[in-house]
Amino acid sequence: MAQPSNRVFSGIQPTGNLHLGNYLGAIVKFVAMQESHECIFCVVDLHAITQPFAVWGGPEKLADHTREVTAAYLAAGIDPKKSIIFNQSQVIEHAELAWLFNCVARMGWLNRMTQFKEKAGKDRENASVGLFAYPNLMAADILLYRATHVPVGDDQKQHLELTRDIAAKFNNDFAPQIATLGHGEAYFPMTEPVIEGPATRVMSLRDGAKKMSKSDPSDLSRITLTDDADTIAKKIRKAKTDPAPLPETLDGLAERPEAANLVGIYAALSGQTREQVIGEFGGKEFSTFKPALADLAVEKLAPVSGEMTRYLADPATVDGVLRDGSDRARAIAVETMREVKDIIGFLS
Ligand code: TYM
Repeated sequence: MAQPSNRVFSGIQPTGNLHLGNYLGAIVKFVAMQESHECIFCVVDLHAITQPFAVWGGPEKLADHTREVTAAYLAAGIDPKKSIIFNQSQVIEHAELAWLFNCVARMGWLNRMTQFKEKAGKDRENASVGLFAYPNLMAADILLYRATHVPVGDDQKQHLELTRDIAAKFNNDFAPQIATLGHGEAYFPMTEPVIEGPATRVMSLRDGAKKMSKSDPSDLSRITLTDDADTIAKKIRKAKTDPAPLPETLDGLAERPEAANLVGIYAALSGQTREQVIGEFGGKEFSTFKPALADLAVEKLAPVSGEMTRYLADPATVDGVLRDGSDRARAIAVETMREVKDIIGFLS
């Protein structure tokens, strides 16, 4: 199978509480890229279970959380006819390629992963082996489709560097076989991360030093995609800020993480740059800026939330999208695995 020239792959974990960071850092980019690229969007349920039940909700919640991410993809405007939408566990080749990558990636590479350190916390001995090997599965997700571009938030940068390292080592280790079997100099591409725009790292509304996350105990720290208009407005009203008005220049945001975060969110929601937002609101008090931001957030997010609710009330449709997407994803995945197994030399 020829290497595709512009294929996008990305994924989101079904761990509940999808939030504005996921939306602006990832989903909005997904929607934009489907115009110019062949896109595959995954609900990465095999990744979700690397953490304790309390994080992903356990067996009672997994299906609902999987449907929640799928509903968000659809509600935001991903077209399931044009793009592939599926959940990872339905295409078992993800786990198969991840195993092969367990044998390519080095312990030292994984030991450097900051997300593992953050997620495992102090009790590293008690973390699952899956959490440690998580980045290998992520590399498998991407390289199973030989994706060329991966839109993500800033927190995934290190994982994408590892994906390139794995691809390079595989290409190098198996170079003679890759050439002999007619795949040229490299089987896997050097995938490009797409981490762009004013909202690649949306911060908590309660603490500008912390990333907005699904697992923050404070509900006020994040705007979720299922929040109604009143809740969105309330969370923005209560967002932590400092007493000074917004600065007249972008430089003035440097030491003001909460203000910088709200300006970034405004910019991303309105499709402007942060400079343009400062041009409009520089010198204004938060008592002016926050209501404008709340109105904008409600205007942009309420339709998504409404559509999500509609999809969540119709699980049969959502499940049908995942089934169809899985069939289409599997057709590509099976072909890649056949070639990879030939390259490695497995008897088949
Ligand atoms: P996950 O589920 O944690 O997050 C999904 C996407 O949302 C982005 N994101 C953010 N962006 C901006 N600000 C934030 N506060 C914020 N929080 C999350 C993430 O960067 C991500 O793009 N490992 C991935 C899932 C994954 C994946 C993949 C991604 C598995 N396989 C293959 C790309 C390609 C993750 O945990 O995302």
